[in-house]
Amino acid sequence: MTDSNTTSEKPWGGRFSEPTDAFVERFTASVGFDQRLYHHDITGSIAHATMLAEVGVLTAEEKTQIIEGLEAVKADIEAGEFQWSVSLEDVHMNVEARLTDRIGVTGKKLHTGRSRNDQVATDIRLYLRDEIDVIAEELQRLRAGLLDLAEREADTIMPGFTHLQTAQPVTFGHHLLAWYEMLVRDAERLLDCRKRVNVMPLGAAALAGTTYPIDRSITARLLGFDRPTENSLDSVSDRDFAIEFCSFAALLMTHLSRFSEELVLWTSAQFDFIDLPDRFCTGSSIMPQKKNPDVPELVRGKTGRVNGHLISLLTLMKGQPLAYNKDNQEDKEPLFDTVDTVKGCLKAYADMVPAIVAKADNMREAARKGFSTATDLADYLVKKGVPFRDAHEIVGKAVAFGVAESRDLSEMTLVELQKFSGIIAEDVFEVLTLEGSVQARDHLGGTAPDQVRAAVARARQQLG
Ligand code: ARG
Repeated sequence: MTDSNTTSEKPWGGRFSEPTDAFVERFTASVGFDQRLYHHDITGSIAHATMLAEVGVLTAEEKTQIIEGLEAVKADIEAGEFQWSVSLEDVHMNVEARLTDRIGVTGKKLHTGRSRNDQVATDIRLYLRDEIDVIAEELQRLRAGLLDLAEREADTIMPGFTHLQTAQPVTFGHHLLAWYEMLVRDAERLLDCRKRVNVMPLGAAALAGTTYPIDRSITARLLGFDRPTENSLDSVSDRDFAIEFCSFAALLMTHLSRFSEELVLWTSAQFDFIDLPDRFCTGSSIMPQKKNPDVPELVRGKTGRVNGHLISLLTLMKGQPLAYNKDNQEDKEPLFDTVDTVKGCLKAYADMVPAIVAKADNMREAARKGFSTATDLADYLVKKGVPFRDAHEIVGKAVAFGVAESRDLSEMTLVELQKFSGIIAEDVFEVLTLEGSVQARDHLGGTAPDQVRAAVARARQQLG
């Protein structure tokens, strides 16, 4: 990156009588981070030049010269032969200055009928639309992997928890489908957000529109936008779409963070419910026995920055009067980092989830130990005519006995169980088994293995 300190180089230098302070120049520049928009900036400029020629503001020859020049600038950037200049402030002025270097005075006509204010708003939308499409695909891959795992583990029994205390047995597949549902909502939110991203602000110019006979529907069509925006002031100042994306991202990361917390717990020696393959873990430099679940831990940790970026953008916007303000330059780093973080976390999860190995015996043993079929015993009594509150009391006493004896309900003899209620008969053992317990919850949304398989089939159809 070059640093210079002259007024003459600035496209807006005309009314200035002294050069920008060297520090201020660096302080106000965005080229250090917005150069990543170069591709979309050039795409937007090509569409703009094409439209200007169609409405007669540029000649066909000027248009061709500009387009060829812009393609050459893009090639320079991609070949690493582009010197970004801080004194040219941002990606937009850097590209334009290089265009003019290459093709001469015609390059200076590109900016006719537009401003950097509508240009940058357009660039971010084009950039974000592409990233949304990449993220949507990665989310889809994670969902598909989750469904495969849920199907594989449809019959695997684990303890279901409330308050992180063993509550009732569930199937592991059912637990995984709870994660899946969160991701369905995330995918819906992302697609919904895309609708409001895909609207074109170009043509709003600085804030009020332009005096040239532009046709915004041409540019919108060329750039694949659904339509041009309605109001020029709103067009240059609106960043709702970025906030909506960050809000989608914060919720997605919150979900991934919850999954991560469970994976971390489950890989611990105390739970020992699953194994993560070595390639997703790291060791300790001092404790030779350690295998740490770094990937889930890091995903959980990265949720903090994504949630933070959402707050950054909301705060960035809350005090801004219409229309464009320099504040808006601060939208990019939070947005870019959100995109990068979400893409990385989704990739890690989409790669890792299908490789999760369930330790079915340990899960089953944990479900067995925690009196997880106590509700089933209460339901059994209720079905035989005992009021639920009395049944609760009876089972509570049986559990207390089991705790004292270190035995699960299913390990008690019929005679022992009958001490708590004479209504209990031999058929009680059908409901006290873990398999009986999960199979009995056989309705839409329930944990029965058949319901899990049916839910997977429905989800696959929806996923396409
Ligand atoms: N670098 C600026 C941004 O990111 C581009 C728009 C600047 N417009 C202006 N009038 N200074 O927001």
